[in-house]
Amino acid sequence: MRIKNKQRLIAIFLKARFLNKRLPLAVRWQLTNRCVLKCKYCNLWSTPQKEFTIDKIISILDEMAVMGTQTISFSGGEPMLREDIAEILEETVKRGISTEMNSTGAGIPGNTFKLKHLDFLKLSLDGPEEIHDAVRGKNSYKMVIEAAKAASNAKVRFIFTTTLTKYNIKETGFLLEEAQRFNTLVAFQPLKSLYRGVEDISFMAPGEQDFKQAIRELIIQKKNGNPHLRNSLVGLNHIYQWPYYPKLKCWAGKIFCILNTDGTLLPCDRIAYNSGLPDCRELGFERAFSMLPETHCSGCGFCGVLELNFIMSLKFGTIKSIYNILR
Ligand SMILES: C[S@@+](CC[C@H](N)C(=O)[O-])C[C@H]1O[C@@H](n2cnc3c(N)ncnc32)[C@H](O)[C@@H]1O
Ligand code: SF4
Ligand code: SF4
Repeated sequence: MRIKNKQRLIAIFLKARFLNKRLPLAVRWQLTNRCVLKCKYCNLWSTPQKEFTIDKIISILDEMAVMGTQTISFSGGEPMLREDIAEILEETVKRGISTEMNSTGAGIPGNTFKLKHLDFLKLSLDGPEEIHDAVRGKNSYKMVIEAAKAASNAKVRFIFTTTLTKYNIKETGFLLEEAQRFNTLVAFQPLKSLYRGVEDISFMAPGEQDFKQAIRELIIQKKNGNPHLRNSLVGLNHIYQWPYYPKLKCWAGKIFCILNTDGTLLPCDRIAYNSGLPDCRELGFERAFSMLPETHCSGCGFCGVLELNFIMSLKFGTIKSIYNILR
């Protein structure tokens, strides 16, 4: 996240934090469910394929800008499959909102010009070639590494993100080395067994002891100042408790939310909402945001939202590491 106007951000942050105002500071926008892969832990590609038109996207961006949105993380599916991704990014930055994008790396080599207005690319990398391909599909490792090379050459700022499963739980050292090789960072996130209420994927979860061992090693790396590790120390200490996360104050639906391809808005995708989610197509973004349900969750381990929850709770370690990235 590269914030354009830090003073405005601080003012909005104070309003949300101390005046208890609901403000959509960070939005994850699922642009498409179309995807080039069929990863073992995700079935978004099999869900309905409604998408916003560019005109509707622009009108929602207008609403978000007025409401003080600071950053949008475009995701999917594979956002590069949107023909108009360059235009979407440009329209977003025009409104003073910073842009992030999750990607498999598909279509990035040869098309980095489309990412001219992207502040921050997050490439999914789950381990060495055999492991990455076993989880994410044949040739997907080559695809993401080629994308990393293209992004480096084109000076598109990027990091790697890794979903920790039983397959790669012993590969954190390799992943940190890959981050070092590309002079970037890697963010580790635990597997969510509930991913938008899809089928049970707990068979992919690592054993508790292996998980704790891996996180212990990351904590040591962090304490030793490894510059390639994106997670904060507070965040690592928190996810160390997996699978029984301690309670923390949750800001889902208050400062961040997720906008689905079908127009529904939700506070967080760790909770299964069977119905009753507001729809931006009918209501517009502002009204839909004001109608988000309160969240009740047993615990938070997902990297991005966890760190946002900690920032809002003024945990020093997270604020410091985010600040270092923003500089
Ligand atoms: C849903 S994907 C969308 C963007 C793009 N298709 C990609 O894979 O990078 C965004 C991130 O979510 C992660 N992810 C998918 N399923 C997950 C799950 N069940 N638990 C945790 N992370 C998951 C992926 O590994 C990826 O890093
Ligand atoms: S994790 Fe990303 S690449 Fe894999 S199937 Fe889901 S959306 Fe597609
Ligand atoms: S995972 Fe739970 S605690 Fe974390 S942001 Fe989502 S709803 Fe809140």
